[in-house]
This record gives sequence, structure tokens and C-alpha cells, in this order.
Amino acid sequence: MKTSEVRERYIKFFEASPRDHKQIKPAPLVLPEDPTTLFTSAGMQPLVPYLLGEEHPKGKRLVNSQPSIRMQDIEEVGDNRHTTFFEMLGNWSLGDYFKDEQLAWFYEFLTSEIGLTKDRLWISVFEGGGQVPKDIESAEIWKKIGIKESRIGYYSAKKNWWSRNGTPSKMPIGDIGGPDSEVFYDFGEELKLHENSPYAKQKCHMNCDCGRFLEIGNSVFMQYKKVAEGKLEELPNMNVDFGGGLERITAASIDSPDVFEIDVMKDIIDGLEKITGKSYQEKKNIVPFRIISDHLRAATFLANDGVLPSNKQHGYILRRLIRRSAVKLRDMEGSIHENAFDKAIDKVFDSYEDHYLDLKNRQNVKKVLSDELKRFTNTLEKGLREIKKIDTIDARKAFDLYQSYGFPLEITAEIFSERGQAIDINRFQKEFEKHKEASRSTSAGVFKGGLADESEETIRFHTATHLLQAALRKVLGENVIQKGQNISGQRSRFDFNYPKKLTENELNKVESLINEIVEKNLPVKKKLMKRTEAERTGAIHAFGEKYGEEVSVYYVGKTLESAFSREFCGGPHVSRTSQVGRVKIKKQDKIGANTVRIYLVFDN
Ligand code: ALA
Repeated sequence: MKTSEVRERYIKFFEASPRDHKQIKPAPLVLPEDPTTLFTSAGMQPLVPYLLGEEHPKGKRLVNSQPSIRMQDIEEVGDNRHTTFFEMLGNWSLGDYFKDEQLAWFYEFLTSEIGLTKDRLWISVFEGGGQVPKDIESAEIWKKIGIKESRIGYYSAKKNWWSRNGTPSKMPIGDIGGPDSEVFYDFGEELKLHENSPYAKQKCHMNCDCGRFLEIGNSVFMQYKKVAEGKLEELPNMNVDFGGGLERITAASIDSPDVFEIDVMKDIIDGLEKITGKSYQEKKNIVPFRIISDHLRAATFLANDGVLPSNKQHGYILRRLIRRSAVKLRDMEGSIHENAFDKAIDKVFDSYEDHYLDLKNRQNVKKVLSDELKRFTNTLEKGLREIKKIDTIDARKAFDLYQSYGFPLEITAEIFSERGQAIDINRFQKEFEKHKEASRSTSAGVFKGGLADESEETIRFHTATHLLQAALRKVLGENVIQKGQNISGQRSRFDFNYPKKLTENELNKVESLINEIVEKNLPVKKKLMKRTEAERTGAIHAFGEKYGEEVSVYYVGKTLESAFSREFCGGPHVSRTSQVGRVKIKKQDKIGANTVRIYLVFDN
């Protein structure tokens, strides 16, 4: 089956009676208002309030397919089943159905809709621990469904407990989690995947890492909240949080233990094969082809979502994916075909243009990736020559390579690990911190303040800039976030991530929204708060910026909750919006592949 067919069948299956789920929109990959995590990595992430008991506008039964990124898997990419980017098929019961229905429905989906054979399914359940009993209930349900007892295994919390943070002892207070039941697809002994793996000496079982067993779905019985160290309490609702790997189920549907054989990955690899003249069938090319195709797919999605390569946070991850692909391409063929990236991006857009990717972004994404590739290749050769001269690597030298040639630590580490040398990550981190400290003073102005002076006009423009950012997010979407600002007594200049210039209509909407708030004469207030608490209010802030334990949040409106705008900010601001006076957008410029600049002036 094709990936899109599996996705569609899953959603239709859960929408159909008697399951009656409602489809919800997937969240963006970058959740700008969720400072707890860099990327959406599970479909449940945006649903936490509802798992905690809030009513969801679409009801108690929800379904979708959520693009996700798990960077912790980057080291594993290269084997037959790990990818950094993947789609998670998800269905949820918010205090409605529970184990009986969930396990039976997922089984029915796998066997009737996808056509997997029952005899290849293996099941794991929670063996119990702490306050939580052994999950005999799930095991009994599986037996009733028809799974042989010998195919059902009990495992500890390390394998069969799910929360965003892992086992109960790793969960922070307030986090939610529960025991789970995983389904594995067995590709059989005949492929000799175990015998030919580094795990050959150990006994093979469903959680073995040899590649014979592919975990294809996980039903989490999300029913606990951690309330104190060592103490879990039941949530108001017994929820189900199911996550299935779309790519993996598709691989099972074509009976391949290699997820890179499914259409969406194979198409990218085919494209790369044509450009490079190398074959995926050749053993030495398998790992690089898997890494490049995975990374460029992930990079395409990130760039489509407005991320730009940089040295920080999301941008750093994007940079790392691009540079790592470049290094692997170069390793494989001795040079980097300029068209390889474009080809891969085209293939990704061809596969996902009906889902998630906006065709209009195709050229922009190409430009973002190729600009970064150019920056990298300019220094790559020099850097690689430098690396050749290094006999023994250490943290300091690794840092120099990073600073002078843009070699991410991981790439240097990888090159040297092939020579049997390791880098002390902690030491490297220390070098990095030292460097950050030195450059902080120069970069600090980007988000905070940035005021030329504290004249009355400048302060009015400062408040106007907050209104501008809030209005832009209301008109263009919550993904929009400040990239830079410069405020003087004559105008405010504001840069933000957006792939194209705004239309006349959008500009008018933004402008009228600001002026509406000005006319409403709303109060502008400041509240000092604990950083963690402030982050929870959804106040806009620079991701990854080092704020102190206490921050001040400026908000425009009667209360913080109902505010039109909320931002981490040091001020100063006017005290009521009418003091800002009417404003107009004087002009806009597109100043980068994904950055738009707006000039705001007073409308006298
Ligand atoms: N939230 C669960 C997972 O990510 C389903 O595996």
C-alpha cells in the first residue's frame, strides 16, 4: 500500500460507525507557545488540557495523523526503521471508550484494513510496578481477540509505560502518563535479521533491536497524573492515547522490514540514485541513502513551517540536518551534486502536497536549503582539510571546527568516531557556554527592548510593535514570531518569519486590528511572574533565550487571560492604548527566504 492510502484508511476507519471519531487538524511541527519541547513529537501534545479533563469542542473521540520529529532518534537513523521525521497516526478517547474497544479496533484496522496476518503480531503489556497493577486486563483482551498467549509479553515501565518524559520516576510533578500496550510486526526468522545483527549473541524477543520486530503501534491508557515524588493519582478520566507509526505500518503492508522501501522514502532515494548514479542496493550506500533521505524530508518540513537555519534551537536542528546530509552525500560520491537537494525536495513535495506541504512554498524551501548548503560547502572543504591535519580530537579543537567551519559537534564526532576517537561532550559544552557568554551582549537586543531611546514617540512605537506582532499572529497564524526589531522615534521596523509578502487585504486587516485596539483604549499592564508560570500563559518570548527565574510580562487588555497581546518584555510601554495613537503600515519588504520586514509609522 501507499503511505497516503494507509493514512486515509486509518482516518476513515476511525471516523466510521460505530467508532465515530472526529478528525482534528494536525498541529504545526514547531509549537511556538510550548516552551517545554522543541518539536511536536507525539499527536497527544496539543491535547494535554483535554486529557486532563477539559472538554474538547469536537467531542470525546478524536483522530488524526500528526507530522512529528524526534531528534533523540537521530543517531539511530541508518537502521531499517528509525527516522527523525515521521507521521503518527493517532486516535483518542477522552474519558469515553477504554481498553476493550481500543485494542479490538486497532487489531481490526491492522488485519481487515491493512491486511496484516494475525500470526505475525506480537503484543507487549505492562508488568506492573509502584502503585500500578500488572495489566492482566489488556493481556486477557488480546487473548479474547485471538492472540496466542505465547505472543504476549509483560515488560517493565521502561518499555510499557508512556509519558512525554518516560517512566513514572522521570515524570515531573503534574505530568500525565499511563501503562501501554504495544503491537509488533514480526518479519520472521527466515530473513535472518537477528543472526546478522550486532545482537546475534542475545536472545531475540519482541523488544530486541535487531530489526526483526517492528513496533507499529502503541495504545497508552492515559489515566494517571504525578502529584508528588513517588505518587500517582488517577485522572478524572480514563483516556486512551494511541500512536501508530504511519511509515512503519506502511512498511508492514508491503512486507518490508525496511521503512525506506515505502513509496514516500523510496521516491526520494530513487531521485538521489538518478542524480548521483549510486545504487541503494549496494551495501555501502544503504546507510548514507537512509540518512540523507530522512534528513532532507525532515528539513523540507521544517523549512516549510518557517524554520530558518541558525545556531540556535529549531534553526540549529535544521542546520544540523542539512549539513549532515551534505557530509553524507560528499562521503558517498566525493563531491556534492548541486541538484541532489532540489531533487529530494521535489520528491517530498510531490508526496505531501495534498497533506501538510504548501506547494507555494516549494521554491522557498529550495532556497532556504540551498543557501545553507552553499554556506556550508564554502567552508566544508577547508574544514575537512583541517580535520585531516588533526591527529587527536579534543573538545577545544572540536569547538574551533564548529566556530570556524560550522562543523556541528555531531559531525566532527562522527568523523572521529570512525577513527575510534571520542569527544568529551561536557567539555565541548563548556567551551560552547564560554563562547555564548561572550556573544550574549551582542545578541541580547534582538528580542528585548531594542529601543534607540526612551522618548515618548519611541515608547509609543514600542507598544505599537507589541500590537503589531499580536495582530500579525491573528491574521497570519500563530507560527509568526519576531525575528528582529528596531524602534526609533520615527518608526518601528519589525521582522518576522513568513514566506511571502502580505496581500493588500492582509495588510489592511493587520492595520485595522491594531487601530481597533488603540481606539478601545485598553490598559497596558505589566506582571512579574515566575518564568515557568509566564510561559504557561502563552506569552510570546524568544525560544531558547536565557530568561531569569522571574520575568515581566506586558499584556494589553483587562486581564492577562483575555489579553490581546502578551509578551515577555522589559518595557517601557504606554499605560493605555489610546496613547499609542493611530498607526499605519508604511511598507513591507521581503528580506530573506522566509522573513518579511514591516515598517510602522504614526498615521497623523
Ligand atoms: N503518545 C504515545 C506515543 O507517542 C501514543 O507513543
